[in-house]
Amino acid sequence: MLKGKNIVVGVTGGVAAYKACDIVSRLKKLGAEINVIMTHSATEFVQPQTFQALTQNPVTIDMFETPRYWEIEHISLAQKADVLLVAPATANIIGKVANGIADDMLSTTIMASTAKVVFAPAMNTKMYQNVIVQENIKKLKALGYSFINPDSGRLACGDIGEGKLCEVEKIIDTVLAIALPKQDLQDKNLLVTAGPTVETIDPVRFITNHSSGKMGYAIAEAAQSRGAKVTLISGPTNLHPPKGVDVISTTSALNMYDAVMGHYQQQDIIIKSAAVADYRPENPSDIKVKKQDGTLSINFVRNPDILMELGTKKTNQILVGFAAETNNLMEYATGKLVKKNLDLIVANDVTENGAGFGADTNIVHLIDRQGNQTKIEKASKLEIAHKILDKILQLK
Ligand code: CTP
Repeated sequence: MLKGKNIVVGVTGGVAAYKACDIVSRLKKLGAEINVIMTHSATEFVQPQTFQALTQNPVTIDMFETPRYWEIEHISLAQKADVLLVAPATANIIGKVANGIADDMLSTTIMASTAKVVFAPAMNTKMYQNVIVQENIKKLKALGYSFINPDSGRLACGDIGEGKLCEVEKIIDTVLAIALPKQDLQDKNLLVTAGPTVETIDPVRFITNHSSGKMGYAIAEAAQSRGAKVTLISGPTNLHPPKGVDVISTTSALNMYDAVMGHYQQQDIIIKSAAVADYRPENPSDIKVKKQDGTLSINFVRNPDILMELGTKKTNQILVGFAAETNNLMEYATGKLVKKNLDLIVANDVTENGAGFGADTNIVHLIDRQGNQTKIEKASKLEIAHKILDKILQLK
């Protein structure tokens, strides 16, 4: 299955390092060529010989101890890797990579690689929840690094909570999905909108909303990896667009409307995850509005409903909308599915922990035209994106 694929497995120093033996053994059985890089701390938990025997390749630990490897292997391992998996990943390696520190073989290889890097963190709960660790994870995710969230349970230190290395099965599935992306969207044109819109009040002020664009960008990334030709129409965000995707940057709802209308006809699938402002100031001022005593009133007028208009215009396109609600989720979402003539609606309760604006995870319900409902439990936005695409491909 993984024949011809090169996987570099980075093992860092945590009790869960022993589980890396199982991971490596399973990947090897799937036919991958595996090179293990251990940190010095990892060797306190597992002997390098174990990985050497499992992979039938030398294990790299130190950059300088074995110049033969580092001269040849350090860059070549980084370059030939299809996937670079770090399992278990300590707070230390996450912190180093997030801050550009390359001071050992593993961090240097990660830094020199253009392969997809996946971290499977494992550490004490408090350490995992530490804001610095979480900020580092957030930063890396925004830069395109993947994370497999740790499980909750009893940890080696006796604490109970988040931080346990996730199931080996899940790690293998993630590596498989990256190394062998399904190509079930080959030859499909897919348009996704993402992020907020901004509506001008005057040259220095605007109104917008909390949309981060993460869900739409994750959909663009997932679809692109599955072979689709992706057009991403995005309001202003702080995200890096996925590689290989055509990006059209927009600002206001009217601006996004024009971009969507200019591109919808050639699409097979349209997914509208953008948070489009329903209203815009009626008369934006050309000059800065000066403050005055008393209150300020701004008159707002309705923006066009882009999705609703696509619902009336669509021919063969599969049309997918989003409903972000705080209450009566299923009722409101179903109402929008019908009113806007959609094929599928992705509904989420933005008040739920782990869902909604800015979060790296989401919890969603998918509702199709037949009224079938599927709940997708809390998962990364990329995993949710893949599940939405799976569902789209099953629509009748
Ligand atoms: N949408 C759009 N154009 C708009 C408003 C919304 O295309 N002017 C799309 C969004 O991209 C999303 C879906 O419609 O896919 C959300 O619709 P809706 O719930 O109507 O947006 P809300 O502003 O949340 O509406 P409401 O106040 O009715 O809940």
